[in-house]
Amino acid sequence: MGSLTPTREKILAAAVAAPSADNSQPWQLRWRGGALELWIDEERSGHDSDSSYLLSDLALGACIENICIQASALGYVSHVALMPELDHEPRKVAIITWSAAPKLDVDLAAVIPCRHTDRRFPWGPVAESSVVRLQSVGIDDGTARIQLIPAGEARARASRILMRAEGLRFSSRTLHAELFRAIRFDVGWHQTCAEGLAPGTLFIERLLRLPFTALQYWPIMRSLNVLGAASMLAWRGAYLPVSKSPLLFLLTAESLQRSHVLASGRLLERFWLRATALGLAVQPFAALGAAAYGTVPIESRLERRRQSLKASVESISKSGVGLVFLRVGQADASRPPMRNARREVVDLLMEA
Ligand SMILES: Cc1cc2nc3c(=O)[nH]c(=O)nc-3n(C[C@H](O)[C@H](O)[C@H](O)COP(=O)(O)O)c2cc1C
Repeated sequence: MGSLTPTREKILAAAVAAPSADNSQPWQLRWRGGALELWIDEERSGHDSDSSYLLSDLALGACIENICIQASALGYVSHVALMPELDHEPRKVAIITWSAAPKLDVDLAAVIPCRHTDRRFPWGPVAESSVVRLQSVGIDDGTARIQLIPAGEARARASRILMRAEGLRFSSRTLHAELFRAIRFDVGWHQTCAEGLAPGTLFIERLLRLPFTALQYWPIMRSLNVLGAASMLAWRGAYLPVSKSPLLFLLTAESLQRSHVLASGRLLERFWLRATALGLAVQPFAALGAAAYGTVPIESRLERRRQSLKASVESISKSGVGLVFLRVGQADASRPPMRNARREVVDLLMEA
């Protein structure tokens, strides 16, 4: 594949279309002969909730999966070598090489440019045949799994746990700062942006936009928290959409070992593309993993809440570590939501 420039362009376009927490796009890419190296972008990774690269590795896993799926559709099988020294040289994540093979995954590659996060609510039900297709998405070695959380008591419990995780983000000054730093209030409510979260993609009701904008200032957030603002935001932003979601899944990793988190990111993306191909909408919620397993120091008064959250997350994860909830449903396809854009591919390429 070394000399095929149009092929390389398609591979890179697929890579950058991958999802990432807060649209941080924490990756860098470098061609070395016929191989593509994938690096963590130090500027965009390793901060706050991402201090152990949990969120970045999920995104890089998704990026790897997009590369493999696109290559597969073009007639190449990908050989992904995760760097064994991941813990000593945390930035260099993988080297990907290719060999010719029959074309596969053409349907998934076709929806890579269409996959997006949909934060609208509520959604319609999902056909049973689609549920079966979604449940068949998996990887062989079991280092990452996606489990369906059935409606009823299990769903109610999961929704309450997520609400606690989201509530923590508005209660802790550190986590609050991280959350609001990613929102690009400077672009207004009607435009998208190439990095970070465009406010219009958050689907905040028109009347609530001004108060929501004010919450970026910690003294205001802290004062309103006395009246229960953190719980109200977590209820509206997470509990309600998740408890009423037609389907809810939980992405787990066998452990927090980085190769397992990368595998989870790959599975997340394959699942999301399958849902997109089935015409379904998806919203991930990563507060769970980030709040429970993030290593960022938070206020000591909240540390007990975090520990109890961690125990709750463990209790609902059938196997391994629960990282991300995914709500899935049938959204209004005639009016697609506003989407976050991406940086230019040239900005992500490192010098060869
Ligand atoms: C690891 C990870 C965590 C995410 N966490 C959340 C989340 O907690 N809430 C949310 O609404 N979206 C979440 N997202 C979606 C991203 O915000 C989204 O992928 C990014 O803004 C790019 O937009 P797109 O998915 O529409 O391409 C997450 C995505 C990833 C990969």
